[in-house]
Amino acid sequence: MNISIFGTGYVGLVTGACLANFGHAVCCMDVDVQKIALLQQGTIPFYEQGLKDLAVQNQKRLHFTTNAEEAVCFGEVLFNCVGTPSRGDGGADLQAVFAVVDAVAHFAFGYKVLVNKSTVPPGTARECQERLKKLTKAEVDVVSNPEFLKQGNAVYDFNHPDKIVIGAPAEKPLHLMQKVYHGLIKTYIPLIETDWETAEITKYANNAFLATKISFINEIANICDAVGADVKVVTKALGMDQRIGPKFLNAGMGYGGSCFPKDIRALSHVAKKKGYNPFIFPAVDAFNERQKVHLFPKIMQALQEVGGNTVTFWGLSFKPKTSDIREAPALALLEHLLAQGVSVRAFDPVALDEARKLLGEKVTYCSSIEESVMGSNAIILATEWDEFRNIDFAALGKLMKTRLVFDGRNVYDPNLVRQDGFRYYGVGRR
Ligand SMILES: NC(=O)c1ccc[n+]([C@@H]2O[C@H](COP(=O)([O-])OP(=O)(O)OC[C@H]3O[C@@H](n4cnc5c(N)ncnc54)[C@H](O)[C@@H]3O)[C@@H](O)[C@H]2O)c1
Repeated sequence: MNISIFGTGYVGLVTGACLANFGHAVCCMDVDVQKIALLQQGTIPFYEQGLKDLAVQNQKRLHFTTNAEEAVCFGEVLFNCVGTPSRGDGGADLQAVFAVVDAVAHFAFGYKVLVNKSTVPPGTARECQERLKKLTKAEVDVVSNPEFLKQGNAVYDFNHPDKIVIGAPAEKPLHLMQKVYHGLIKTYIPLIETDWETAEITKYANNAFLATKISFINEIANICDAVGADVKVVTKALGMDQRIGPKFLNAGMGYGGSCFPKDIRALSHVAKKKGYNPFIFPAVDAFNERQKVHLFPKIMQALQEVGGNTVTFWGLSFKPKTSDIREAPALALLEHLLAQGVSVRAFDPVALDEARKLLGEKVTYCSSIEESVMGSNAIILATEWDEFRNIDFAALGKLMKTRLVFDGRNVYDPNLVRQDGFRYYGVGRR
């Protein structure tokens, strides 16, 4: 099939490369001229495991353009993968989604399926369809097909989804979608066929559940701190309950990224707009913002006690295996510390360039773990990259002014770290 993708971000590019790998011919379109120029030269503009290899392997079936007309004409199925960031009021900003709809209306001829893969509030597919009806005589069916991949594991997730959810208004677009995913459906990945609104809210429900699960364990961890209990043990026991399961139960500095925060806000916003006042999700959002800086007073107090003023951040990306720093908990904590005049050194395996764009010279960027701790008073583990798991604290301690570890992801064994002469602070670790 000929398929076009609008938006070459994490979702669009992964979708394009993976669909090319299924054997489809794929045209990827973006309004970002620089991004497309890089892609045309074979450079992936962000870090995502396995994506470069996949793009190279499928380069014959994958091409890039900034020309919307070319993309609309090329594809039988058109995937809308543009960003849907948070507006000031918490609602999803759908400007880019509708810009693609308008381009489709302007250039489409014959029959097309326009697939909303971006995360959009319930009611958006219906609005897109109505807009198309007004703007074009071409036959275009809108389909909702939300994406559930995780950044850092996106290529694997796209190829091994737990489910494919398709909200379609009729048999015809549904059959085309089955053709798009033929390879995956053949491997017995369940296909959930439903209406637009149900498909759209399923994506929000998925993310709101995970954000709530993380916040739940973080609140338990904070209570563990207060009562002198160990959340690691609590988590282990909780996870053994098959009704709960162990995933997304690691207490720490909260969640970030371009999805959970904006999606939980957008879900609350659309609910309110439709007359339902949500209770749980605004609380999860507010709680998570507080959790990002939960360690801040402890860090300030410990720095005062040792008479120091320099900290080292390990990890700046919102989670491991990505260069994405959007809404990263590390940044919220870092900004709090900078505001108090604390000097910050930082090391991240891939996110330093992104961080530099945002933070400029306010931070000392380091190219190794060893360099990052030189002359520092405290290590703050903010992102649990594998690189930070097996650390020789005894050796690193010799490079530091004082030995403090703030384990924002509860990765380390407090006793082992203490044996190397460090003071250890975790989240809910007594
Ligand atoms: N990142 C994730 O892990 C993830 C997972 C599932 C769903 N989603 C959802 O998928 C959507 C895209 O997310 P992302 O992380 O890939 O975003 P992103 O910000 O990385 O990429 C969006 C891209 O769209 C481009 N764009 C904007 N307007 C355009 C237009 N009119 N025509 C063509 N391109 C345009 C931008 O230039 C950008 O390259 C969002 O709705 C997001 O919530 C993201």
